[in-house]
Amino acid sequence: MEKYVIKGGTPLVGEVEIGGAKNAALPILAAATMTDETVYIDNMPDEADTNVMLSAMANIGVIVERTGRHSVKINASQVSDYRIENEYIKKIRASYYMIGAFLGKYKKASVVIPGGCNIGLRPIDQHIKGFSALGATVTIEHGMINAFADSLNASHIYLDIASVGATINIMMAASMAEGKTIIENAAKEPHVVDLANFLNSMGADIKGAGTDVIRIKGVEKLHGTEYTIIPDQIEAGTFMMAAAATKGDVTIKNVIPKHLESISAKLIEMGCQVLESDDAVRVVATKRMRNVHVKTLPYPGYPTDMQPQITVVLGLASGISLVTESLFENRFKYVDELTRMGGNIKVEGSTAIIEGVDKYTGAEVSAPDLRAGAALVIAGLTAEGFTTVEDIRYIERGYEDFDMKLRELGAQIEKIDSDRDLQKFKLKFA
Ligand code: UD1
Repeated sequence: MEKYVIKGGTPLVGEVEIGGAKNAALPILAAATMTDETVYIDNMPDEADTNVMLSAMANIGVIVERTGRHSVKINASQVSDYRIENEYIKKIRASYYMIGAFLGKYKKASVVIPGGCNIGLRPIDQHIKGFSALGATVTIEHGMINAFADSLNASHIYLDIASVGATINIMMAASMAEGKTIIENAAKEPHVVDLANFLNSMGADIKGAGTDVIRIKGVEKLHGTEYTIIPDQIEAGTFMMAAAATKGDVTIKNVIPKHLESISAKLIEMGCQVLESDDAVRVVATKRMRNVHVKTLPYPGYPTDMQPQITVVLGLASGISLVTESLFENRFKYVDELTRMGGNIKVEGSTAIIEGVDKYTGAEVSAPDLRAGAALVIAGLTAEGFTTVEDIRYIERGYEDFDMKLRELGAQIEKIDSDRDLQKFKLKFA
């Protein structure tokens, strides 16, 4: 099994280029099947999740052609099945975006119930509520979600929770419903806006994405388009935290600084310097961070997907910090691993109480999920001695070339798959 081995203690210095946003790419791929015309997508991240989605699409007859590492050409005119149950697709949560896409286009869809990161209960009641409001009959049988409608009709939908997934799914289906749908208490995340822009470039009529109220005037047909996916907010934020944790100086390029404001604000509060330019942020950390309190919230609040990374940084800050997770109840599983590296963190309910220590010490840890895995790598980069991070398949779901990008910033990290490689690494960096 592949793992990362890290020799900690080197400040990250240099420049890193951020790729396309995974959480925008996944719904955009689903939405690309809503037209029979060809769609060209650029800045597509080459990660496990997006690749699984592409292979599941190919399995049902969508013509998928990689025109470059980060560009793909999609034509869904030959779709042969509305049932998606590819053995891998269960592992990615976003597979359920095919329901919104197919329900909109074909008025029927059947998709295996999604998995995704095990970070707590992840109900889909708001998705179902939205589809039902548009006139679909939705059933869950034999592990599949089935949705069908004779016709989809616009509706006024109030989400009980500003769910990213439900907003996206309803937006797709409503794009091809009859009449004007209004989604209230809609999610405002950058990837919701990116999907709306993508759909609009295919001829949809969506207004208000990025605010609480999205208005969607259904159209009969969508057409082909060429589109470039936005940069990944969370990949960028992860490198910002890695720079801070290692007391480095990193310029994170190809980002939208506005999407990073809640992260930059916390880093500044902690005593880092964050310098913004048009499409880059530079994080400079020279001294020990100060404690801060953080509560995860929907956008524009501090993102839950950046919670483990900031906890790792605060684990080294002076004073006591409180990190409250308000979206997913099971998102502190990495804390045990961090404790094994010398962290002094207690979790009470949905809050982590962090008493900063002077240093982490290298240990063997495993990634419990995608973002927590990245956070443990950051801890390893700062730690005294050697750290191995197992189960890196989670990390590779959502970070392209993570180890390579870190190496280019001076990190001593390698991906290994044998004890021999481990010994070689230890000799090299002893
Ligand atoms: C998406 C992101 C994930 C991120 C999360 C919050 C993707 C592929 N994943 O996940 O990385 O952590 O947004 O920014 O984009 N909820 C319900 N009922 C529903 C739907 C959600 O109760 O029908 C609850 C969830 O349990 C959670 C909260 O709403 O507590 C937010 O979930 P949601 O915004 O839907 O997250 P995802 O779309 O699953």
